[in-house]
Amino acid sequence: MDVRHTFVEGGDVARGDGGADRWRYDGGMQDTIVRPAQPADVLAIRDLVRPYALNEHHILIPRDLVAYYESLPEFVVAERLIDGEWRIVGCGALHVMWSDLAEVRTLAVAENAKGHGIGRAILTVLLDRARDYSLKKVFCLTFEVEFFGRFGFEPIEGPVVPPEVFEEMLRSHDVGVAEFLDLARVKPNTLGNTRMMLTL
Ligand SMILES: CC(C)(COP(=O)(O)OP(=O)(O)OC[C@H]1O[C@@H](n2cnc3c(N)ncnc32)[C@H](O)[C@@H]1OP(=O)(O)O)[C@@H](O)C(=O)NCCC(=O)NCCS
Repeated sequence: MDVRHTFVEGGDVARGDGGADRWRYDGGMQDTIVRPAQPADVLAIRDLVRPYALNEHHILIPRDLVAYYESLPEFVVAERLIDGEWRIVGCGALHVMWSDLAEVRTLAVAENAKGHGIGRAILTVLLDRARDYSLKKVFCLTFEVEFFGRFGFEPIEGPVVPPEVFEEMLRSHDVGVAEFLDLARVKPNTLGNTRMMLTL
């Protein structure tokens, strides 16, 4: 599927409620939009992530509500027209880590909405955001190797930043950064995951 996103002015798209910047998908996805998340979306984001963050799954990192509010500008959500109502069916975030580097994180599509190109649409927007920031590399930690592989992500091993950057990044309190650095204290979180990198 050819997924492109178009910046649309004036909020006359989809729900037509104005205000925030919006993106609309063509390429056969007239019933789906991806847009920047708003504070009112946080409970829906939390509910989307929750099933993937349960202890037995541990596919995504569970976060406290306050952490979602604090990182809201990093998020986009996908909305889909279902039975005449726009519903949030996916989310994802781009977390900037360094001058040339960001992580795609918390990419989640509702179980019953998978396989309709929504994950692709969200990731496309996040990667465009990375390009807008002139970043060179995008990291992800995932079980979905084939999905990310379709976008050019490749498995990586070992340290991937110069030692001086590594030292600086160690100062972060963010769990995702610790996972990126492959620190021993977060190894239990990362078991079975693959560390992948895309060069833009
Ligand atoms: C990974 C995930 C986001 C994919 O979402 P999705 O909406 O089902 O994916 P799409 O329908 O956009 O699929 C895009 C392409 O990837 C392929 N694909 C998707 N999931 C796949 C999988 N598990 N294995 C192989 N291929 C897969 C699709 O077949 C499609 O291929 P195409 O380009 O030939 O049509 C979704 O499965 C999910 O939420 N997983 C749980 C959370 C997670 O692991 N997130 C990633 C870590 S941050």
